[in-house]
Amino acid sequence: MTEVNHHGKIVSFINMKGGVGKTTLCREIGYTLNKEHQKSILFIDIDPQANLTQSLYEKFHILSKSLFDNLSSEEKKDSTYTINNATISRLFNDSKILPEKNDIIVNLKDDPKISLIPGDLQTVFLERNGSTSTENSLDKFIVRREILNDFDYVFIDCPPTYSFYTTTAFNASDYYIVPVGIDPYSILGIDLLEQVVKQIQEDDFRRFDDKSLKNMGIIFNPLNYISNATSKRQFENQKRTIKKSKQLKKYNLFYFDEPFTYNSKYKEELDYFAIDSNDKKHNSNIKEITEEFIDRVKYLNKNIREGTDNE
Ligand SMILES: Nc1ncnc2c1ncn2[C@@H]1O[C@H](COP(=O)(O)OP(=O)(O)OP(=O)(O)O)[C@@H](O)[C@H]1O
Ligand SMILES: [Mg+2]
Repeated sequence: MTEVNHHGKIVSFINMKGGVGKTTLCREIGYTLNKEHQKSILFIDIDPQANLTQSLYEKFHILSKSLFDNLSSEEKKDSTYTINNATISRLFNDSKILPEKNDIIVNLKDDPKISLIPGDLQTVFLERNGSTSTENSLDKFIVRREILNDFDYVFIDCPPTYSFYTTTAFNASDYYIVPVGIDPYSILGIDLLEQVVKQIQEDDFRRFDDKSLKNMGIIFNPLNYISNATSKRQFENQKRTIKKSKQLKKYNLFYFDEPFTYNSKYKEELDYFAIDSNDKKHNSNIKEITEEFIDRVKYLNKNIREGTDNE
């Protein structure tokens, strides 16, 4: 393991608001940590929409068994994809039998290590049936199967809901990152999320007395092209309004300095990763966000170890 903190960290990407860049930032930061900083990373796609899985499968040339089965025999013969049958549903469907690592973890590439627990549309039915044991299943899997001996970081991509998935992700997480689109409702959204976290910590106070669940920071995502000086000024103003908001003051939140930049490629190519592109602007944007992420982890780890976790 290359991590200086001797212990892998689990980070959820979450916002109950949809389409704010959770999946995009999760995979971009994770992939950049792997590629630029030689960190080993396990992605977990807990969202039944499985957007993270689709994008990583495209990038690493993997096909799910169900999609492969639907191909014609001609297509099957010509297929150069690796076929995979493992998904996160194994973990949820029978929470009494704990899967082995190989049952649900897919290695995307051998070295440096980058792996995925794929999402699965099947798990959408769990929304109504989630029980305490299923909500504990991911945490239990990570602890019992000693996943943090294998990975520097575990990144969980959450759906835009407050549901069984959110609780399951939070129960396993050390930290969470909140991508935020710029609009006047963002303040309310962040406030709501912080209240949810507090409630989860209260409901399961024994777990969270031993283990921190900290907001690592807010990452601003413009979501639209900033075309001119006026829209740039509007973006800056809205950022300032959020940062200065009275409603959020009590949470003492950290805001990433570097906002995510708008990039039309995300809507065109499922397997686009900024760090692999030759585009200097997007390339250095994701590098800077990733470096801020690393600094932030160091800061939080140190403070939590020393028990001075105020900022
Ligand atoms: N900085 C950006 N520039 C351009 N497009 C972006 C940017 N961030 C996100 N997008 C696009 O916006 C859409 C939503 O992004 P993404 O899927 O990452 O959000 P999400 O929060 O995970 O959504 P959901 O809540 O549905 O899971 C996607 O089509 C994505 O490609
Ligand atoms: Mg998503």
